[in-house]
Amino acid sequence: MTQENKLVFGLNPELPYAIEEAVNRLRINISFLGKDIRKIMIVSSEPNEGKSFVAMNLWKQIAKTGEKTILIDSDMRNSTFSTKYAMSREDGKEMKGTSHYLSGDVELDDVLMHTDDPAGDIIVNIENVVNPSLLLENSRYEELLNAMAQQYRYVFVDAPPLGLVSDAERIGNICDGVILCVRGGATSKAAVRASIQQLERAGCPLLGIVLNRVSDSKGGYYHKYYGKKYGEGYYYKR
Ligand SMILES: Nc1ncnc2c1ncn2[C@@H]1O[C@H](COP(=O)(O)OP(=O)(O)OP(=O)(O)O)[C@@H](O)[C@H]1O
Ligand SMILES: [Mg+2]
Repeated sequence: MTQENKLVFGLNPELPYAIEEAVNRLRINISFLGKDIRKIMIVSSEPNEGKSFVAMNLWKQIAKTGEKTILIDSDMRNSTFSTKYAMSREDGKEMKGTSHYLSGDVELDDVLMHTDDPAGDIIVNIENVVNPSLLLENSRYEELLNAMAQQYRYVFVDAPPLGLVSDAERIGNICDGVILCVRGGATSKAAVRASIQQLERAGCPLLGIVLNRVSDSKGGYYHKYYGKKYGEGYYYKR
């Protein structure tokens, strides 16, 4: 039987063991953050640091444990989820996403998709827009995140990078905390510091920093997580 609003992943690559393990450690760290931390933004200073990769894999792993989790794609400038994972609806209908919902074209039911994992739901952005700032400032966005936080244990929000536009600050302002992705060997300390200040201004507590895309001795990638509980400040390896 076809499940309604079911998302199919045409491509769903398995992760190498080391990455799977690193995401698992990140998941465990997050489980210690306490029940008030529900809406978590995944962000970085610059493009291409692995935000969407971290958000997707974290969401998947947490859903696998049975904890109700939703991933909300809030990068409406440059979302690549639907193409990267060759996503489609099982019922064959045209997919609609975050920007359609926020502009009022469709209802939540048209964009909130279920997956093979009963605990893992997702809202993907399908149509990128030139200026999504207005959509993020619309109260519909804040209401969406807050409503989801009532229904799901975790709401992961994939954001555009901090450096370019103010979108991520707006999103951070609504979220309970943020995970900052840093590309190992590529992002400058100055950029990371500027991002931390930006997040402080946005009033979004830094939950931890993921050092991502670091080549290991075998030439692969892994994550490291420098996490601290909310309220204890952050730790960044200098
Ligand atoms: N830990 C990792 N291991 C292997 N590949 C990774 C890892 N992190 C990111 N990548 C790859 O690096 C590329 C950039 O990652 P991703 O799209 O997640 O970055 P992003 O920060 O979301 O970029 P953007 O700023 O454009 O949204 C992708 O091809 C992704 O698959
Ligand atoms: Mg991304």
